[in-house]
Amino acid sequence: MIGKWRQKLHIEPPRGWLNDPNGLCFFKGKYHVWFQYTEGSAQGDGLRCWGHYESSDMLLWKFAGTSLYPDTASDATGVFSGSAVVNGDKLELFYTGNVEHEGDHDYITSGREANQIHVTTTDARQMGAKNVILRNSDYPDYCSCHVRDPKVTCENGVWRMVLGARTLGNEGCVLIYEGTSPDEFKFIKKLSVSDFGYMWECPDMFELGGNTYLSVSPQGVVYGEFEFQNLFSSGYFRVDGDKLSHFEEFDHGFDFYAPQTFKAPDGRRILIGWMGIGNGSGYTNPTIDLGWQHCLTIPRELTADADGVILQNPIREIESLRFAPAVIGKEQTWHKLPFDITISGIEADQGFEMEIGKAKISWRSEGYVELTFTDEKVSAGRKVRKVRTGALKDLRIVADRSSLEIFINGGRHVMSTRFYPEFAEVPVSITCNVFAANLFRLDVKNTLVAIGEALIDFIPDRKGCEFDEVSSFAPVPGGAPANVCAAFSKLGGNSRMITQLGKDPFGDMIIRTLEDSGVDTSAVSRTDEANTALAFVSLNSSGKSTYSFYRNPSADMLLEPSQISPDMFDGCSFLHFCSVSLGDFPMRDAHRTAIVLARKNGAIISFDPNLRFMLWDDPDALGQVVREFIPEADILKIADEELEFITGEDTLEDALPILMRGNVKLVILTCGADGAFAANMAGTAFVPGKKVDVKDTTGAGDCFIGSFLRCLEMNGVRRTDLDKIPPEKLKEYLEFANNCSAVSVTRKGAIPSYPALEEVIKD
Ligand code: FRU
Repeated sequence: MIGKWRQKLHIEPPRGWLNDPNGLCFFKGKYHVWFQYTEGSAQGDGLRCWGHYESSDMLLWKFAGTSLYPDTASDATGVFSGSAVVNGDKLELFYTGNVEHEGDHDYITSGREANQIHVTTTDARQMGAKNVILRNSDYPDYCSCHVRDPKVTCENGVWRMVLGARTLGNEGCVLIYEGTSPDEFKFIKKLSVSDFGYMWECPDMFELGGNTYLSVSPQGVVYGEFEFQNLFSSGYFRVDGDKLSHFEEFDHGFDFYAPQTFKAPDGRRILIGWMGIGNGSGYTNPTIDLGWQHCLTIPRELTADADGVILQNPIREIESLRFAPAVIGKEQTWHKLPFDITISGIEADQGFEMEIGKAKISWRSEGYVELTFTDEKVSAGRKVRKVRTGALKDLRIVADRSSLEIFINGGRHVMSTRFYPEFAEVPVSITCNVFAANLFRLDVKNTLVAIGEALIDFIPDRKGCEFDEVSSFAPVPGGAPANVCAAFSKLGGNSRMITQLGKDPFGDMIIRTLEDSGVDTSAVSRTDEANTALAFVSLNSSGKSTYSFYRNPSADMLLEPSQISPDMFDGCSFLHFCSVSLGDFPMRDAHRTAIVLARKNGAIISFDPNLRFMLWDDPDALGQVVREFIPEADILKIADEELEFITGEDTLEDALPILMRGNVKLVILTCGADGAFAANMAGTAFVPGKKVDVKDTTGAGDCFIGSFLRCLEMNGVRRTDLDKIPPEKLKEYLEFANNCSAVSVTRKGAIPSYPALEEVIKD
């Protein structure tokens, strides 16, 4: 189950490595999160860029591409961490351009430039010029070369920057600068405390409940049994004039560092941290082998209690995702991740122990909570973390596919950890008297929705022969739209299939296969009015398939438009469909309803006619319905052998004006082993086919379009961008899809043959 550790609620890199959150803000109606991104290496080898996510609700985050690259002399070896300030209709971004020079350097006292750089954008996508506003010579002379991570604010015309730094005497501190514009800053003062680490990273300064806080991520603080248990730490001081009071850690789990805060439009102070820690922690993340590593925490609302202590709680928006409430207790019960647990009225004096899929949370009568694991594979090297809590009163736990965030006593203490359960369903139990313990599953929105047939392909044991020469057929779940979902999800995307299956074992088999590939099946209905569709396949000597269908009618054809509901399209950014389900039966109208609802969500509509002549008594009826649905689509994918039937033309050039009608902005023409074209208003791109040892081409076209759509998602392409994608980018996307389908044809069947991300990307 390749996609099983992909997080559902948390920001993860599409591929490669993620560290600190950067540039948190709400700008022009959207929340923005940038992050430290090294796309080419899950281990984090390579230069840091700024990857970008956007969201309208902080629940569903859409990748919006990579915004800032190390492409100038001032940031040559890394676009490091920084922040954003909304300035009217402009967004001002600040970051550290890291430049490491070659030579015999320690990179602490020499060999490193720390340039603070300012960039302006008006749409959070197109970046203006990079302006270096502070460089090494501008810092006080007691500073080493480690000065970075500008957190900037602007209030009443005063621009204030706080920088993390290491002094030549190996003392961590922050430097405060002020100015009257985002391009001019003057040094004001240094804040530090004695004996508290050699470097402070990622500082932040903010007001909360009438107090001023300085948050920093210190390195080199002395390890303790209950404090500073990680490689590096992060937490906050209360600021009183130039005095910093007692330091309080934000999080006592295994995976937390470099948090940043911002103010939401409703005034809430929101914190997001990196749910990871630098290499060298002694534990690991098995997603490295799958092509990506690390995620951010869910956004947390900060409030201050009467003593000025910061309480952290999951943003209240999470509660809107809750469904299927269940009471949990001493009996072990199994629940599907992600979920949200609330436990109140804990009578911990008799001891408290709770298990969530091999993670153990216990309260000790000495007054602390301990987090341990009973399985080393699940913990990937994580052993024990402790936090002093006094009495244990309540718990809130947000569990995603590979993480737990544990909020203790109203958010007074937090423990965050990654964990890697083998299955997405995990056992939960509590051995203690509690007043109430509820578990809510969290409904996660899906980004690709496909509608149409899901069926069983019967694959022959031999190729190069007729149906009647085949001695056995193996059942393999398929159906073009279902295949597209699986291709998309195996590459790490979220997808949902809308179809109907019979109440029969083949229906069960399809559900199992889709779920194992990470596809959401909550919109799959079951009926006893017809059976699940079947298709027998024969393969000629070059692996090309012909089909014999059993659907007279089948369950999918009977899906009614009234069974399609708006919530199936929440968060949908792509809707994909084909022509097999566009015959004269209820499913055709169900497609019409789906298209209307997906459009309302601003989704990109993708249509692959995928002609199956044997299903139509009258080929003209097929031609007609395909031509009727083409203008509904933004992306049209056709195969070369379909071109003439659909358009009456036999070259792409002649066919394009006929295809580019209505909403159509991008046409993809696949030419089997010869390669594929993509054409939009900006031009045409071509990639040649890859020479591979073809075993079975079943579902290869579905793999192609599923991977292409996932590639658009990974590159943050929006519907309004489709006609503007330049040919060189189109070529890159075609290459990705080509690589995916080249892998799939070397293996048998459709879904099982589709690659995971790590098989098609090279570090
Ligand atoms: C913290 C940090 C920052 C730096 C960034 C580089 O994790 O070391 O200080 O800007 O990561 O990726």
